[in-house]
Amino acid sequence: MASPRRNASHGEAARSDSSPTYTPATPRSRFAAEFSPEAFDEPGAGEAPSAKESVTATVRFRPLSSREIRQGEEIAWYADGETIVRSEHNPNIAYAYDRVFGPTTTTQQVYDVAAQHVVGGAMQGINGTIFAYGVTSSGKTHTMHGDQRSPGIIPLAVKDAFGIIQETLNREFLLRVSYLEIYNEVVNDLLNPAGKNLRIREDLQGTFVEGIKEEVVLSPTHVLSLIAAGEEHRHIGSTNFNLLSSRSHTIFTLTVESSPFCESNEGETVTFSQLNLIDLAGSESSRAETTGARRKEGSYINKSLLTLGTVISKLTDGKATHVPFRNSKLTRLLQSSLSGQGRVSLICTVTPASSNSEETHNTLKFAHRSKHIEIQALQNKIIDEKSLIKKYQSEIRQLREELEQLKRGIFTATPLKDVTEDNIILWKQKVILFLLSHLMLYGFVVFHFIYHA
Ligand SMILES: Nc1ncnc2c1ncn2[C@@H]1O[C@H](COP(=O)(O)OP(=O)(O)O)[C@@H](O)[C@H]1O
Ligand SMILES: [Mg+2]
Repeated sequence: MASPRRNASHGEAARSDSSPTYTPATPRSRFAAEFSPEAFDEPGAGEAPSAKESVTATVRFRPLSSREIRQGEEIAWYADGETIVRSEHNPNIAYAYDRVFGPTTTTQQVYDVAAQHVVGGAMQGINGTIFAYGVTSSGKTHTMHGDQRSPGIIPLAVKDAFGIIQETLNREFLLRVSYLEIYNEVVNDLLNPAGKNLRIREDLQGTFVEGIKEEVVLSPTHVLSLIAAGEEHRHIGSTNFNLLSSRSHTIFTLTVESSPFCESNEGETVTFSQLNLIDLAGSESSRAETTGARRKEGSYINKSLLTLGTVISKLTDGKATHVPFRNSKLTRLLQSSLSGQGRVSLICTVTPASSNSEETHNTLKFAHRSKHIEIQALQNKIIDEKSLIKKYQSEIRQLREELEQLKRGIFTATPLKDVTEDNIILWKQKVILFLLSHLMLYGFVVFHFIYHA
Protein backbone atom coordinates (compact mmCIF):
# COMPACT_ATOMS: atom_id res chain seq x y z
CA MET A 1 0.00 0.00 0.00
CA ALA A 2 1.33 3.41 -0.85
CA SER A 3 2.08 5.57 2.15
CA PRO A 4 -0.26 8.51 2.79
CA ARG A 5 2.64 10.80 1.90
CA ARG A 6 2.59 9.50 -1.64
CA ASN A 7 -1.11 10.24 -1.92
CA ALA A 8 -1.23 13.51 -0.18
CA SER A 9 1.34 15.89 -1.37
CA HIS A 10 1.70 19.09 -3.32
CA GLY A 11 -1.77 20.04 -4.29
CA GLU A 12 -3.27 16.62 -4.74
CA ALA A 13 -4.11 16.03 -1.15
CA ALA A 14 -6.10 12.89 -0.65
CA ARG A 15 -8.25 14.64 1.87
CA SER A 16 -11.82 13.60 1.99
CA ASP A 17 -14.63 14.62 4.31
CA SER A 18 -13.60 11.81 6.54
CA SER A 19 -10.03 13.09 6.88
CA PRO A 20 -9.46 14.41 10.35
CA THR A 21 -9.10 18.17 10.17
CA TYR A 22 -8.91 20.84 12.80
CA THR A 23 -11.19 23.73 13.25
CA PRO A 24 -10.22 26.66 15.41
CA ALA A 25 -11.69 26.76 18.86
CA THR A 26 -9.84 29.49 20.72
CA PRO A 27 -9.01 33.09 19.89
CA ARG A 28 -5.56 33.75 18.50
CA SER A 29 -2.96 35.04 20.86
CA ARG A 30 0.80 35.03 20.74
CA PHE A 31 0.93 33.26 17.43
CA ALA A 32 -1.15 35.90 15.72
CA ALA A 33 1.77 38.00 14.58
CA GLU A 34 4.03 35.19 13.51
CA PHE A 35 1.45 32.84 12.10
CA SER A 36 -1.08 35.16 10.61
CA PRO A 37 -3.19 33.54 7.91
CA GLU A 38 -1.79 36.15 5.54
CA ALA A 39 1.65 34.65 6.09
CA PHE A 40 0.63 31.85 3.76
CA ASP A 41 -0.40 34.23 0.97
CA GLU A 42 2.17 37.01 1.22
CA PRO A 43 4.70 37.15 -1.56
CA GLY A 44 7.75 35.49 -0.20
CA ALA A 45 5.78 33.45 2.32
CA GLY A 46 7.63 30.26 2.90
CA GLU A 47 10.83 31.84 1.69
CA ALA A 48 13.66 31.07 4.01
CA PRO A 49 16.39 33.63 4.68
CA SER A 50 19.92 33.06 3.41
CA ALA A 51 21.41 29.58 3.74
CA LYS A 52 23.47 30.59 6.76
CA GLU A 53 20.54 32.22 8.53
CA SER A 54 18.36 29.17 8.06
CA VAL A 55 20.76 27.09 10.18
CA THR A 56 21.13 27.85 13.88
CA ALA A 57 23.87 26.28 15.97
CA THR A 58 23.49 26.43 19.73
CA VAL A 59 25.23 24.83 22.72
CA ARG A 60 23.45 23.70 25.88
CA PHE A 61 25.38 23.04 29.09
CA ARG A 62 23.90 20.65 31.58
CA PRO A 63 24.66 21.12 35.28
CA LEU A 64 27.32 18.89 36.89
CA SER A 65 25.55 15.73 38.00
CA SER A 66 25.59 14.75 41.67
CA ARG A 67 28.00 11.95 40.79
CA GLU A 68 30.36 14.41 39.11
CA ILE A 69 30.17 16.72 42.12
CA ARG A 70 30.85 13.79 44.49
CA GLN A 71 33.88 12.88 42.42
CA GLY A 72 35.19 16.40 42.83
CA GLU A 73 34.95 17.25 39.12
CA GLU A 74 35.90 20.74 38.13
CA ILE A 75 34.46 23.00 35.46
CA ALA A 76 36.45 22.74 32.25
CA TRP A 77 34.19 24.76 29.90
CA TYR A 78 31.76 27.55 30.63
CA ALA A 79 29.31 29.89 28.92
CA ASP A 80 30.78 33.38 28.71
CA GLY A 81 27.71 35.50 28.02
CA GLU A 82 25.03 34.42 25.55
CA THR A 83 27.14 33.42 22.57
CA ILE A 84 30.60 32.29 23.67
CA VAL A 85 31.96 29.10 25.22
CA ARG A 86 35.38 29.36 26.87
CA SER A 87 37.90 26.91 28.20
CA GLU A 88 38.54 27.41 31.91
CA HIS A 89 42.12 26.25 31.54
CA ASN A 90 43.13 28.05 28.39
CA PRO A 91 41.66 31.53 28.02
CA ASN A 92 42.77 31.63 24.40
CA ILE A 93 40.33 28.87 23.42
CA ALA A 94 36.84 30.17 22.79
CA TYR A 95 34.06 29.51 20.27
CA ALA A 96 31.04 31.57 19.26
CA TYR A 97 27.57 30.23 18.41
CA ASP A 98 24.15 31.64 17.67
CA ARG A 99 23.38 31.07 21.34
CA VAL A 100 24.90 29.34 24.35
CA PHE A 101 22.59 28.09 27.10
CA GLY A 102 24.05 27.87 30.60
CA PRO A 103 23.34 25.00 33.00
CA THR A 104 20.34 26.69 34.60
CA THR A 105 18.50 27.29 31.31
CA THR A 106 15.17 25.46 31.08
CA THR A 107 14.17 23.40 28.03
CA GLN A 108 11.32 25.85 27.44
CA GLN A 109 13.91 28.63 27.07
CA VAL A 110 15.95 26.45 24.71
CA TYR A 111 12.76 25.75 22.77
CA ASP A 112 11.90 29.45 22.43
CA VAL A 113 15.29 30.26 20.92
CA ALA A 114 16.31 27.10 19.07
CA ALA A 115 13.07 25.38 18.07
CA GLN A 116 10.02 27.61 17.92
CA HIS A 117 10.95 29.23 14.60
CA VAL A 118 11.53 25.79 13.08
CA VAL A 119 8.16 24.49 14.30
CA GLY A 120 6.42 27.70 13.20
CA GLY A 121 8.05 27.38 9.76
CA ALA A 122 6.92 23.77 9.42
CA MET A 123 3.34 24.84 10.12
CA GLN A 124 3.67 27.30 7.21
CA GLY A 125 5.09 24.78 4.76
CA ILE A 126 8.84 25.17 5.39
CA ASN A 127 10.65 21.92 6.18
CA GLY A 128 12.36 21.88 9.56
CA THR A 129 14.90 19.69 11.31
CA ILE A 130 16.14 19.89 14.88
CA PHE A 131 19.10 17.79 16.02
CA ALA A 132 20.37 17.07 19.52
CA TYR A 133 24.07 16.27 19.17
CA GLY A 134 26.49 15.30 21.94
CA VAL A 135 28.20 12.49 23.80
CA THR A 136 26.22 9.96 25.82
CA SER A 137 24.98 11.51 29.04
CA SER A 138 25.39 15.11 27.89
CA GLY A 139 21.62 15.76 27.82
CA LYS A 140 20.33 14.94 24.30
CA THR A 141 17.34 12.89 25.44
CA HIS A 142 16.67 15.33 28.29
CA THR A 143 16.56 18.09 25.68
CA MET A 144 14.50 16.26 23.03
CA HIS A 145 12.14 14.11 25.11
CA GLY A 146 12.49 15.43 28.68
CA ASP A 147 10.17 14.15 31.37
CA GLN A 148 6.98 15.16 33.17
CA ARG A 149 8.77 17.84 35.17
CA SER A 150 10.71 19.23 32.25
CA PRO A 151 9.08 18.41 28.90
CA GLY A 152 11.50 18.21 26.00
CA ILE A 153 11.46 19.82 22.59
CA ILE A 154 9.31 17.03 21.07
CA PRO A 155 6.33 17.46 23.44
CA LEU A 156 6.73 21.26 23.36
CA ALA A 157 6.75 21.24 19.55
CA VAL A 158 3.68 19.00 19.39
CA LYS A 159 1.82 21.28 21.80
CA ASP A 160 2.88 24.33 19.80
CA ALA A 161 1.79 22.75 16.51
CA PHE A 162 -1.71 22.03 17.82
CA GLY A 163 -1.83 25.53 19.34
CA ILE A 164 -1.00 27.06 15.96
CA ILE A 165 -3.71 24.97 14.29
CA GLN A 166 -6.29 26.22 16.76
CA GLU A 167 -5.27 29.80 16.21
CA THR A 168 -5.03 29.76 12.42
CA LEU A 169 -8.67 30.45 11.66
CA ASN A 170 -8.68 30.25 7.91
CA ARG A 171 -6.81 27.01 7.27
CA GLU A 172 -7.38 23.37 7.93
CA PHE A 173 -4.59 21.00 8.78
CA LEU A 174 -3.80 17.34 8.56
CA LEU A 175 -1.00 16.04 10.75
CA ARG A 176 0.61 12.63 10.81
CA VAL A 177 3.62 11.20 12.54
CA SER A 178 6.23 8.54 12.02
CA TYR A 179 8.96 7.42 14.37
CA LEU A 180 12.01 5.46 13.36
CA GLU A 181 15.43 4.44 14.50
CA ILE A 182 18.68 4.05 12.57
CA TYR A 183 20.96 1.48 14.17
CA ASN A 184 24.09 0.29 12.37
CA GLU A 185 22.80 1.91 9.17
CA VAL A 186 19.59 -0.15 9.39
CA VAL A 187 16.25 1.69 9.48
CA ASN A 188 13.62 0.26 11.85
CA ASP A 189 10.06 1.49 12.29
CA LEU A 190 9.35 2.24 15.95
CA LEU A 191 5.60 2.52 15.39
CA ASN A 192 5.45 -0.92 13.82
CA PRO A 193 7.57 -3.71 15.37
CA ALA A 194 7.37 -5.65 12.09
CA GLY A 195 8.91 -2.78 10.13
CA LYS A 196 12.57 -3.78 10.18
CA ASN A 197 15.39 -2.92 7.82
CA LEU A 198 13.30 -0.56 5.70
CA ARG A 199 14.59 0.86 2.43
CA ILE A 200 15.09 4.50 1.67
CA ARG A 201 13.65 5.34 -1.74
CA GLU A 202 13.56 8.40 -3.88
CA ASP A 203 10.97 9.80 -6.26
CA LEU A 204 10.22 13.18 -7.78
CA GLN A 205 9.16 14.56 -4.40
CA GLY A 206 12.35 13.47 -2.68
CA THR A 207 13.46 10.73 -0.33
CA PHE A 208 11.13 8.58 1.78
CA VAL A 209 11.20 5.37 3.79
CA GLU A 210 9.37 2.63 2.00
CA GLY A 211 6.60 1.04 4.05
CA ILE A 212 7.01 3.23 7.13
CA LYS A 213 3.90 3.49 9.26
CA GLU A 214 2.42 6.98 9.43
CA GLU A 215 -0.36 7.68 11.91
CA VAL A 216 -2.78 10.54 11.48
CA VAL A 217 -2.85 12.34 14.82
CA LEU A 218 -5.66 14.22 16.48
CA SER A 219 -4.26 15.67 19.68
CA PRO A 220 -0.97 16.19 21.55
CA THR A 221 -1.86 13.30 23.87
CA HIS A 222 -2.38 11.06 20.86
CA VAL A 223 1.12 11.92 19.54
CA LEU A 224 2.79 11.40 22.90
CA SER A 225 1.11 8.02 23.36
CA LEU A 226 2.47 6.92 19.96
CA ILE A 227 5.99 7.99 20.94
CA ALA A 228 5.67 6.14 24.25
CA ALA A 229 4.58 3.00 22.38
CA GLY A 230 7.57 3.38 20.03
CA GLU A 231 9.95 3.65 22.99
CA GLU A 232 8.36 0.55 24.46
CA HIS A 233 9.08 -1.39 21.25
CA ARG A 234 12.71 -0.28 21.43
CA HIS A 235 13.03 -1.45 25.05
CA ILE A 236 11.54 -4.86 24.30
CA GLY A 237 13.69 -5.41 21.24
CA SER A 238 16.98 -4.74 23.00
CA THR A 239 19.00 -6.58 25.62
CA ASN A 240 20.75 -3.43 26.81
CA PHE A 241 18.56 -0.42 26.21
CA ASN A 242 21.03 2.17 27.47
CA LEU A 243 23.65 0.90 25.10
CA LEU A 244 21.22 0.75 22.19
CA SER A 245 19.88 4.23 22.82
CA SER A 246 23.38 5.67 22.87
CA ARG A 247 24.22 3.84 19.62
CA SER A 248 21.20 4.70 17.49
CA HIS A 249 19.64 7.81 16.00
CA THR A 250 15.89 8.28 16.49
CA ILE A 251 13.89 10.42 14.10
CA PHE A 252 10.43 11.63 15.00
CA THR A 253 8.70 13.18 11.98
CA LEU A 254 5.59 15.32 12.02
CA THR A 255 4.18 15.73 8.52
CA VAL A 256 2.04 18.81 8.12
CA GLU A 257 -0.42 19.54 5.33
CA SER A 258 -2.65 22.56 5.26
CA SER A 259 -5.00 24.29 2.87
CA PRO A 260 -7.37 27.27 2.96
CA PHE A 261 -10.47 26.56 5.00
CA CYS A 262 -13.40 26.99 2.67
CA GLU A 263 -16.25 25.06 1.05
CA SER A 264 -14.57 24.57 -2.29
CA ASN A 265 -10.84 24.65 -2.36
CA GLU A 266 -10.32 23.37 -5.85
CA GLY A 267 -7.21 24.76 -7.38
CA GLU A 268 -5.94 26.00 -4.01
CA THR A 269 -2.46 24.91 -3.11
CA VAL A 270 -1.96 22.56 -0.25
CA THR A 271 1.23 23.24 1.66
CA PHE A 272 3.21 20.20 2.68
CA SER A 273 6.17 20.07 5.03
CA GLN A 274 8.00 17.85 7.43
CA LEU A 275 9.34 18.57 10.87
CA ASN A 276 12.07 16.12 11.94
CA LEU A 277 13.06 16.01 15.60
CA ILE A 278 16.20 13.94 16.05
CA ASP A 279 17.93 12.47 19.07
CA LEU A 280 21.33 11.47 17.63
CA ALA A 281 23.56 8.59 18.72
CA GLY A 282 26.28 9.51 21.25
CA SER A 283 29.13 11.28 19.47
CA GLU A 284 31.88 9.86 21.73
CA SER A 285 34.89 8.59 19.91
CA SER A 286 34.96 4.84 19.37
CA ARG A 287 38.76 4.62 19.22
CA ALA A 288 38.92 2.98 22.63
CA GLU A 289 36.45 0.22 21.73
CA THR A 290 38.00 -3.20 21.73
CA THR A 291 35.28 -5.61 20.63
CA GLY A 292 34.41 -5.97 16.96
CA ALA A 293 30.69 -5.29 17.42
CA ARG A 294 31.26 -2.07 19.36
CA ARG A 295 33.84 -0.90 16.87
CA LYS A 296 31.43 -1.54 14.01
CA GLU A 297 28.68 0.46 15.75
CA GLY A 298 31.18 3.22 16.41
CA SER A 299 32.34 3.41 12.84
CA TYR A 300 28.75 3.67 11.53
CA ILE A 301 28.03 6.43 14.05
CA ASN A 302 31.24 8.27 13.21
CA LYS A 303 30.47 8.08 9.54
CA SER A 304 26.91 9.35 9.85
CA LEU A 305 27.82 12.16 12.26
CA LEU A 306 30.80 13.16 10.15
CA THR A 307 28.60 13.26 7.06
CA LEU A 308 25.98 15.24 8.96
CA GLY A 309 28.63 17.81 9.96
CA THR A 310 29.82 18.08 6.37
CA VAL A 311 26.28 18.41 5.02
CA ILE A 312 25.33 21.16 7.49
CA SER A 313 28.57 23.07 6.94
CA LYS A 314 28.01 22.93 3.18
CA LEU A 315 24.52 24.28 3.73
CA THR A 316 25.79 27.15 5.86
CA ASP A 317 28.68 28.17 3.67
CA GLY A 318 26.22 28.47 0.81
CA LYS A 319 28.66 27.10 -1.76
CA ALA A 320 27.08 25.03 -4.50
CA THR A 321 29.58 22.23 -4.15
CA HIS A 322 28.63 18.56 -3.94
CA VAL A 323 26.71 17.81 -0.74
CA PRO A 324 27.36 14.17 0.26
CA PHE A 325 23.81 13.28 1.40
CA ARG A 326 24.26 9.73 0.17
CA ASN A 327 27.18 8.94 2.46
CA SER A 328 24.91 7.91 5.33
CA LYS A 329 21.33 6.73 5.87
CA LEU A 330 20.69 9.62 8.24
CA THR A 331 21.57 12.35 5.74
CA ARG A 332 20.02 10.49 2.82
CA LEU A 333 16.75 10.20 4.69
CA LEU A 334 16.82 13.89 5.56
CA GLN A 335 17.94 15.05 2.14
CA SER A 336 14.60 16.66 1.19
CA SER A 337 14.38 18.47 4.52
CA LEU A 338 17.98 19.64 4.61
CA SER A 339 18.33 20.77 1.03
CA GLY A 340 16.47 23.74 -0.36
CA GLN A 341 15.00 26.19 2.07
CA GLY A 342 14.51 24.01 5.11
CA ARG A 343 15.27 25.39 8.55
CA VAL A 344 17.84 23.51 10.61
CA SER A 345 18.61 23.80 14.30
CA LEU A 346 21.63 22.02 15.72
CA ILE A 347 21.55 21.87 19.51
CA CYS A 348 24.83 20.56 20.92
CA THR A 349 24.62 19.30 24.47
CA VAL A 350 27.71 19.32 26.69
CA THR A 351 28.76 18.73 30.26
CA PRO A 352 31.06 21.28 31.88
CA ALA A 353 32.93 18.47 33.73
CA SER A 354 36.72 18.29 33.45
CA SER A 355 36.77 14.50 32.98
CA ASN A 356 34.81 14.98 29.73
CA SER A 357 36.77 18.02 28.63
CA GLU A 358 38.17 16.48 25.47
CA GLU A 359 34.84 15.08 24.26
CA THR A 360 33.18 18.40 25.03
CA HIS A 361 35.88 20.10 22.98
CA ASN A 362 35.09 17.73 20.08
CA THR A 363 31.39 18.63 20.32
CA LEU A 364 32.23 22.34 20.36
CA LYS A 365 34.42 21.91 17.30
CA PHE A 366 31.67 19.96 15.51
CA ALA A 367 29.16 22.76 16.17
CA HIS A 368 31.72 25.36 15.11
CA ARG A 369 32.52 23.50 11.91
CA SER A 370 28.82 23.15 11.13
CA LYS A 371 28.28 26.88 11.39
CA HIS A 372 31.33 29.02 11.49
CA ILE A 373 30.69 32.10 13.59
CA GLU A 374 33.51 34.56 14.21
CA ILE A 375 34.00 35.87 17.71
CA GLN A 376 33.52 39.62 17.64
CA ALA A 377 36.71 41.39 18.70
CA LEU A 378 34.77 43.41 21.25
CA GLN A 379 33.15 40.34 22.78
CA ASN A 380 36.50 38.68 22.99
CA LYS A 381 37.78 41.16 25.57
CA ILE A 382 37.56 39.74 29.06
CA ILE A 383 36.09 42.44 31.21
CA ASP A 384 36.15 40.58 34.49
CA GLU A 385 37.23 41.53 37.98
CA LYS A 386 40.73 40.27 37.52
CA SER A 387 41.41 42.34 34.44
CA LEU A 388 39.86 45.48 35.99
CA ILE A 389 42.07 45.09 39.00
CA LYS A 390 45.06 44.63 36.77
CA LYS A 391 44.15 47.83 34.97
CA TYR A 392 43.89 49.78 38.27
CA GLN A 393 47.06 48.24 39.61
CA SER A 394 49.02 49.36 36.59
CA GLU A 395 47.51 52.85 36.81
CA ILE A 396 48.48 53.10 40.47
CA ARG A 397 51.99 51.92 39.64
CA GLN A 398 52.26 54.56 36.97
CA LEU A 399 50.95 57.30 39.27
CA ARG A 400 53.37 56.27 41.97
CA GLU A 401 56.29 56.55 39.56
CA GLU A 402 55.14 59.96 38.41
CA LEU A 403 54.79 61.04 42.02
CA GLU A 404 58.32 59.89 42.80
CA GLN A 405 59.64 61.79 39.81
CA LEU A 406 57.71 64.85 40.89
CA LYS A 407 59.08 64.64 44.43
CA ARG A 408 62.59 64.28 43.10
CA GLY A 409 61.97 67.21 40.80
CA ILE A 410 60.97 69.44 43.73
CA PHE A 411 63.29 68.29 46.45
CA THR A 412 66.38 66.90 44.83
CA ALA A 413 66.72 68.48 41.47
CA THR A 414 69.17 71.33 41.21
CA PRO A 415 67.27 74.58 41.50
CA LEU A 416 66.33 75.91 38.13
CA LYS A 417 66.77 79.51 37.27
CA ASP A 418 63.10 80.03 36.71
CA VAL A 419 61.91 78.24 39.85
CA THR A 420 59.91 80.96 41.44
CA GLU A 421 57.76 80.90 44.56
CA ASP A 422 54.67 80.58 42.30
CA ASN A 423 56.11 77.58 40.49
CA ILE A 424 56.80 75.77 43.74
CA ILE A 425 53.20 76.35 44.88
CA LEU A 426 51.97 75.02 41.53
CA TRP A 427 54.12 71.89 41.85
CA LYS A 428 52.94 71.33 45.41
CA GLN A 429 49.34 71.51 44.16
CA LYS A 430 50.19 68.90 41.53
CA VAL A 431 51.65 66.60 44.17
CA ILE A 432 48.50 66.94 46.28
CA LEU A 433 46.32 66.22 43.24
CA PHE A 434 48.32 63.07 42.40
CA LEU A 435 48.17 61.95 46.00
CA LEU A 436 44.41 62.45 46.04
CA SER A 437 43.82 60.54 42.78
CA HIS A 438 46.12 57.79 44.06
CA LEU A 439 44.07 57.53 47.24
CA MET A 440 40.77 57.53 45.32
CA LEU A 441 41.90 54.73 43.01
CA TYR A 442 43.23 52.76 45.92
CA GLY A 443 39.91 53.24 47.74
CA PHE A 444 38.04 52.11 44.65
CA VAL A 445 40.04 48.92 44.37
CA VAL A 446 39.54 48.12 48.07
CA PHE A 447 35.80 48.79 47.69
CA HIS A 448 35.74 46.59 44.57
CA PHE A 449 37.33 43.71 46.48
CA ILE A 450 35.03 44.07 49.50
CA TYR A 451 31.91 44.43 47.34
CA HIS A 452 32.64 41.33 45.24
CA ALA A 453 34.04 39.23 48.06
N1 LIG B 1 19.95 20.46 31.26
C1 LIG B 1 19.83 19.51 32.19
N2 LIG B 1 19.39 19.79 33.42
C2 LIG B 1 19.26 18.84 34.36
N3 LIG B 1 19.57 17.54 34.17
C3 LIG B 1 20.01 17.18 32.95
C4 LIG B 1 20.16 18.13 31.90
N4 LIG B 1 20.63 17.48 30.80
C5 LIG B 1 20.75 16.19 31.16
N5 LIG B 1 20.38 16.00 32.44
C6 LIG B 1 20.41 14.71 33.16
O1 LIG B 1 21.64 14.06 32.84
C7 LIG B 1 21.46 12.69 32.60
C8 LIG B 1 21.92 12.30 31.20
O2 LIG B 1 21.11 12.99 30.24
P1 LIG B 1 20.53 12.30 28.94
O3 LIG B 1 19.56 13.27 28.33
O4 LIG B 1 20.01 10.94 29.21
O5 LIG B 1 21.85 12.21 28.05
P2 LIG B 1 22.03 11.63 26.59
O6 LIG B 1 20.68 11.41 25.98
O7 LIG B 1 22.83 12.67 25.89
O8 LIG B 1 22.79 10.35 26.76
C9 LIG B 1 19.98 12.40 32.83
O9 LIG B 1 19.80 11.95 34.15
C10 LIG B 1 19.33 13.77 32.64
O10 LIG B 1 18.15 13.88 33.37
MG1 LIG C 1 19.90 9.59 25.20
